[in-house]
Amino acid sequence: MGDPRVAIVGATGAVGRTMLAILEERGFPVSDLRLMASSRSEGRTLNTRWGQVVVEDLAKANPSGIDIALFSAGAARSRRYAPQFAAAGAVVVDNSSAFRQASRVPLVVAGVNDHAVLGHEGIIANPNCTTMTLMMAAAPLHRHAGLARMVAMSYQSVSGAGMGGMEALMSQTSQLLEQRDALVSGAWEDPGNGPFQRPIGFNVLPLAGALAGAGHTDEEWKLVNETRKILEREAISVEPTCVRVPVMVGHGISATMWFDSPLDPETAGRIIEEAPGVAVWPDDRVATPLDSAGIDPVLVSRIRGTLGEPGGISLWTVGDNLRKGAALNAVEIAESLV
Ligand code: A2P
Repeated sequence: MGDPRVAIVGATGAVGRTMLAILEERGFPVSDLRLMASSRSEGRTLNTRWGQVVVEDLAKANPSGIDIALFSAGAARSRRYAPQFAAAGAVVVDNSSAFRQASRVPLVVAGVNDHAVLGHEGIIANPNCTTMTLMMAAAPLHRHAGLARMVAMSYQSVSGAGMGGMEALMSQTSQLLEQRDALVSGAWEDPGNGPFQRPIGFNVLPLAGALAGAGHTDEEWKLVNETRKILEREAISVEPTCVRVPVMVGHGISATMWFDSPLDPETAGRIIEEAPGVAVWPDDRVATPLDSAGIDPVLVSRIRGTLGEPGGISLWTVGDNLRKGAALNAVEIAESLV
């Protein structure tokens, strides 16, 4: 095709804005750009590298003439509109969970299982941001030694819950800043919850997402099911715990993995270092979410051998959930299409 006609659905959201920024940064070839969101945003104009673009109401937008549509407006919108866009001729790269487990929809981490793109039938799913960040370290090790079992704990930033998550953290933090002594004594006043079950300012929530069966949340189930699909191994056992932390951007995951054959930390470090899209940091440099914000590579550190049951690997991985965790990966998939 010539330069593609591109649409961003959910263009005013945290991920949608990052999609636009990344298309601009990378000089993605765009012959025509359309931006869509809810009726609340209809008529707003956004300045882009391709000129001023007026935001359209998704419900009224005509999908014909679009080559690539990047969707990040929530699973309900994807379920309703992505098939219509695909039927009208677009290839949809969908950042929601709507189609990730559909058998005919590839679930692609660019740099990990790019080959899966080839089988698409109009919709390609972008993995969950936590799974994506973990796969950047786990997939190269899996290819080398065969991943069998994994225990994974996430430390997920509030931007994973969109603009509303970031606003909640900022406003709660500023309200609670006035209550220094009360935060210590327990007499703090509830600043409200925003999109979360409990206050997130100066707090940690041991439940990210919504409860979804067997005592696990939907976020935790994504980690189980998406890991298996991306690594193409149904038998991988995953024990996930997803936690929300008062961080703006950057999801961290602490994982312990055991493989078909034992792996030593030096070999694991070398394999991860050679993988694309990853930077290995020495332990004493302490890779944090703040370091990951705004950059493309996923940071990996604390690579060490297991103690109680030797032969496994424990590590820490942290990445910008809006970039590699969402928008960057979607754009990388789109790049592989053109
Ligand atoms: P809008 O800004 O008009 O509400 P975030 O999760 O960061 O808040 O982003 C969600 C994105 O999805 C926004 O662009 C939002 O548009 C869009 N969105 C939410 N609900 C709808 C809807 N019913 N139809 C179309 N877009 C929607």
